[in-house]
Amino acid sequence: MDNPASRTIAVFGAGYIGLVTGACLAELGHRVVVRDIVPAKVEALSRGEVPFHEPGLSELILGNTERLRFTLDAREALAGAEVAYVCVDTPPTPAGDADLSRVHAVVDDLVSAPHLAAVVVKSTVPIGTGDRIRERLDRAGLSHVGYAANPEFTAEGKAVSDFLHPDRIIVGADDDATADLVADLHRDVDGPVVRMDVHSAELAKLTANALLMTRISFANEIATLCEVTGADIEKVMGAVGMDPRIGPQFLRAGLGWGGSCFPKDGVALKQLASNDGLYLQLLTAVIEVNNLQPRRALQRLKDELGGFGGKRVVMLGMAFKAGTDDMRQAPSAVVASRLLAEGAEVRCWDPLARVTEPEPWGRTTRYDDPREALAGAHAAIVVTEWPQLRELDWADVADSMAAPVLFDGRNLLDPAEMRAAGFTYLSVGRS
Ligand code: UDX
Repeated sequence: MDNPASRTIAVFGAGYIGLVTGACLAELGHRVVVRDIVPAKVEALSRGEVPFHEPGLSELILGNTERLRFTLDAREALAGAEVAYVCVDTPPTPAGDADLSRVHAVVDDLVSAPHLAAVVVKSTVPIGTGDRIRERLDRAGLSHVGYAANPEFTAEGKAVSDFLHPDRIIVGADDDATADLVADLHRDVDGPVVRMDVHSAELAKLTANALLMTRISFANEIATLCEVTGADIEKVMGAVGMDPRIGPQFLRAGLGWGGSCFPKDGVALKQLASNDGLYLQLLTAVIEVNNLQPRRALQRLKDELGGFGGKRVVMLGMAFKAGTDDMRQAPSAVVASRLLAEGAEVRCWDPLARVTEPEPWGRTTRYDDPREALAGAHAAIVVTEWPQLRELDWADVADSMAAPVLFDGRNLLDPAEMRAAGFTYLSVGRS
């Protein structure tokens, strides 16, 4: 695609957001250099290897090699750049705030960008970050460089399509020229550009995530009530979600959320408010419900088994959701740690999960085939909603287990079918 309005863009950070942003901007016809500080990552990307699973991303990278480069060198990335995208991570500090040191380090590098017109922040940052970056730019003699907050709403597993066909493109900028420039970069994107001030854009991102988390925790709390009253959460939320004022999405009960965004952003928003003396009671409860969710599930399974000591328990799924290899903040880590602490032998299966932490996974055994993991086991837990689990011959599996007990933590399987296959079947909110 040859775009007459194409720009030269430096993207800082080759994580999920940075790579998707860089590859999609190149696909839109812009000339993009992605800069990261990890040599092995830059080398692999330069060979066309994507370090994680994201459908469509490697095709975009390989299909745009003329317009997309990777480098370790900030100066090289900035040499011709008219726009700099900041996509570095903002992990929590020991105080629970978002650590902005990587964002500020990028801003400090911008002095070596002779053609720069705007810096665009996609990293999820606290409200007021834009003000601090503006001051930093001004102090560095970069008052002519505009600032825009352009928060990212893409979900893993469909990030490329979310970027190219978004519900909305939020452009938070305090001057029209910068807003025009950022809007123009997206001129071939199929989605509405919504302009606002920087503070509102920063808060919109955190609020969207917090509201999605609220829906999940609400569904999980109602699921607990279903278990007590004999109602079925799937039927309840099916009916509730048909109301167009509510909608069906993010009402799925289960083991709760994980991932790179919700856990971090929920705490960051709570923390941000508390730094200003505000206590976000609802959000606090939403996070607490989520923290308890895997523990509640384990308690129910433990009651069923009469304790985990010496039992072989299989975890079906480790990734924080299906369709990704990402295990960041996945409920699976809580499940595995608790099972091990209670004396279980833990076996796991996941078709994609990329284990990066030795704990607790070093003390578990991973299998390539779920049937092998399940043979001889005393119980299994569906931790991730991998659709291939629906295809297993569960009657065969029940015969192969030492005791056919299954806790379906994602309400993936059909209760009547599982019971007919011989299972003692437990799930979330379906008593
Ligand atoms: C999320 C947001 O959707 C996205 O807009 C933002 O930019 C980043 O955070 P992501 O982390 O990729 O995206 O995952 P998402 O698909 O939103 O799921 C988040 C978690 O919630 C998963 O652990 C999922 O299993 C859980 N979930 C989701 C539920 O438990 N119930 C639901 O109904 C929906």
